[in-house]
Amino acid sequence: MILTTLIIIGALSAIYYLIGIYNEVYWKKRGIKLYSKNKVLGPLGEFVISKRAMFQIFSDIYKMYPDEPVVAVASLFTPALYVKDVTNVHHVLNVDFNSFSHRGFEVNEGDQLADNVLFMNGNRWKLMRQNMTPLFTSTKLKSMYYILDRSALDFVEYLKQRPELLQKDTFQTLNIFCSAAIGASIFGIENESVFDSPFLQMATKAFAPTFRINTLLTIGAFNQKLFKLLGIKLFKEHEDFFIGAIKQVIRKRQEEKVKKHDFADLCVGLINKGALKDHDTGLEIQPSEEILAAQAFFFFVAGVEPTATAMFGILVELGRNPEQLKRLHEEIDNSFEKHDKMTYDIVNEMEYLDMVYNEALRMHPPIGNLLRKCIKDTVLPVGNVRVEVGTKTFLPIYDIHHDPKIYPDPEVFNPERFSRENIKNINSNAFMPFGEGKRLCIGIRYATLQAKAGLVHLLRNFTVKTHVGQGGIKYQKQNVQVRPTNVDVQFIPRDLRKNM
Ligand code: HEM
Repeated sequence: MILTTLIIIGALSAIYYLIGIYNEVYWKKRGIKLYSKNKVLGPLGEFVISKRAMFQIFSDIYKMYPDEPVVAVASLFTPALYVKDVTNVHHVLNVDFNSFSHRGFEVNEGDQLADNVLFMNGNRWKLMRQNMTPLFTSTKLKSMYYILDRSALDFVEYLKQRPELLQKDTFQTLNIFCSAAIGASIFGIENESVFDSPFLQMATKAFAPTFRINTLLTIGAFNQKLFKLLGIKLFKEHEDFFIGAIKQVIRKRQEEKVKKHDFADLCVGLINKGALKDHDTGLEIQPSEEILAAQAFFFFVAGVEPTATAMFGILVELGRNPEQLKRLHEEIDNSFEKHDKMTYDIVNEMEYLDMVYNEALRMHPPIGNLLRKCIKDTVLPVGNVRVEVGTKTFLPIYDIHHDPKIYPDPEVFNPERFSRENIKNINSNAFMPFGEGKRLCIGIRYATLQAKAGLVHLLRNFTVKTHVGQGGIKYQKQNVQVRPTNVDVQFIPRDLRKNM
């Protein structure tokens, strides 16, 4: 028995060693440095055994190889590159989109809710994205603004009635706001507060990032074959509830024949139009309730957490930068004094709010890295790097946003970087909290509007104070998200009479 165990351990160690040698030789031949800390499992190996977020592991690599435009990272036998140089990143995401249009992740067949724009690839992605885009035009968002404003007003009431929430767990509280607002934008609003929606409790529970989902996404990002072999279904457990809820809302809306300018309206429109067709390729997708539920699901999966993280990052910075907080309060108060009601145009015209929003997203991008898979042999311009089909490319957001060569004093919160005069000095390819290129976040304008609607009402009613624990801000162990921990924001009610 002992001998068998020793033989197995010996054989596995030899295989492990040989994979390391294979990776070393593979990248040496191509003239690219291989991240030396783990030549077999690369950052994935470190992520599994450490307590750190994935972006922090990539940050180390970013700093370890300051002069390399790309660094190879091991991922068993899958070739993978960490593309560091901004021009190369822009090339992958934008210029050479046809070679890198693949999300780098494929879900398994039958994972019904994962069959959405976020995870789709190829022509199916293109066709679905085209049909979802109309929900996010400025005209559509303008008609939808009433939902976001109502959600923000309900949020302030929700907080006022629960003083215990003013003291701590602000990220969770913002997460509830984002779930409620996104739920309202999908399913429409009724007379009750969006926080009393029967859907909300279920959704907040279902979308809390769990160890399970984090692990499964990590396996998928680094080893698609293993992901397929295990037949992993990411969201199986939510199918009955979510598909059922969408069916119910769509049918109700079809019967009522009222327009509410939300996602349910878009679904009814698509069902009435019949099959979605791509005239170039002849591809057709039937707008079944299942596939529409999967698209609604992406609002939650892709939208709730990042928007809550963005709002949290903004409040953290405002709560420890009194000068900037005062200036934003003044802008918001002036606006409320001039107008009885917040509208899409008024919120969009708040210049300082926009500067604060951008700077906080620079410092605290909710997504740390992007992933793409190469589907056509190509060359990256800086360093003349050949990339072969099947190579995974990891692309930094956090590290570019914190690179002192790109943003001097990157740890200083300075909204002036994004003022009208200064913004032209920023390399637009180096600011990408929402990604870049044709797979840019579809919800960019929606998320911005939702966050700003929430902030305007919050800061009209409260001021904020940040409390950072000993040892400074830390980060939760997350695969793609950048979630600050060891820091909280306190809401302090404002005496509005003083501002009148
Ligand atoms: C502040 C909040 C948000 C941030 C920072 C954010 C960030 C991102 C990023 C970095 C990507 C990847 C882009 C790429 O691969 O180039 C992405 C993709 C995506 N986001 Fe967002 N997002 C936010 C909110 C939302 C919301 C509210 C929705 C839905 C309404 C949404 C829906 C999506 C979808 C569907 C994709 C995939 C797009 C595609 O592959 O075509 N996001 N987002």
